[in-house]
Amino acid sequence: MIYREIIKKGSKFLKKNKIKNPYLDTELILSKVTKKKREEILLNVNNQLKNKDIKKFNKYLFRRYEKEPMAYILGYKHFWKSKFLTNKSVLIPRPDTELIVEETLNYLPMEKSKKILDVGTGSGCIIVSLLKERPKCSATAIDVSKNAINVAKTNAKLHQLENKINFINIDIDKYKSYNYDLIISNPPYINSIDLKRLDDDIKFHEPMLAISGGSDGFKVLKKVIIKSKKLLKINGKLILEVGHRQNKQCSKILYENGYYINKISKDFSGKDRCIVSTKLQ
Ligand SMILES: C[S@@+](CC[C@H](N)C(=O)[O-])C[C@H]1O[C@@H](n2cnc3c(N)ncnc32)[C@H](O)[C@@H]1O
Repeated sequence: MIYREIIKKGSKFLKKNKIKNPYLDTELILSKVTKKKREEILLNVNNQLKNKDIKKFNKYLFRRYEKEPMAYILGYKHFWKSKFLTNKSVLIPRPDTELIVEETLNYLPMEKSKKILDVGTGSGCIIVSLLKERPKCSATAIDVSKNAINVAKTNAKLHQLENKINFINIDIDKYKSYNYDLIISNPPYINSIDLKRLDDDIKFHEPMLAISGGSDGFKVLKKVIIKSKKLLKINGKLILEVGHRQNKQCSKILYENGYYINKISKDFSGKDRCIVSTKLQ
């Protein structure tokens, strides 16, 4: 079968299960199977797909039909300026999370060697992106999921940062190392009602540990805020990603715990998404 027919058939199959970008996804799967760039595929639509590759293609296509996210099928996702390995143990890096990187860089002068902690590192996308931009800084990245820590370690290695980031498989509750200049966290923050409304791609495929913030969505967020008070230096910064309706409640928890709110920034769709705060005393 030639590429053109494969793309036509494949996208028709994905449409049956209401997959959002059936053509693009089919082309990307074909690109993975043939190890050719998507542009190359589109320029050679009359090429034949080998029989052994048809089998592989059908396997991946079926996974997409079942709503598995493309980042898991392809095994990677672009974030900030780099490519990150992704598998089912980690949340797929989101464009909205690039806001944390953008905001944090404002508090990390190029020449200073600040000590950073990333709580709930997942794929390691935030901390790896930050250290690539600020090579003088040093970092620790923790996650309660051992499998996530393994993915993050692999990503650090891919970006030659394995000696700059100390990865630890631990719950934030149990972590005891102090004097950080800056703590960043994109904790799980979806509440149990919103959880039920998520797209199947997320709900049935991404790790619950990375998404579910308990009944009110604040279970881990609160822990991070309270624990960071102990872990940060005075005047240290806590930079959090929050759900779009959590900004007010989260600011209240920060105030109650002695933080000053420096800034709340909006994501691409205009929703409050990132809170920068300072530990005052
Ligand atoms: C929303 S994901 C963020 C992943 C990554 N930082 C990103 O932005 O793409 C939250 C991460 O926090 C981790 N996590 C959940 N509860 C935790 C806890 N109590 N202590 C440490 N990490 C936790 C999860 O395993 C998951 O990897």
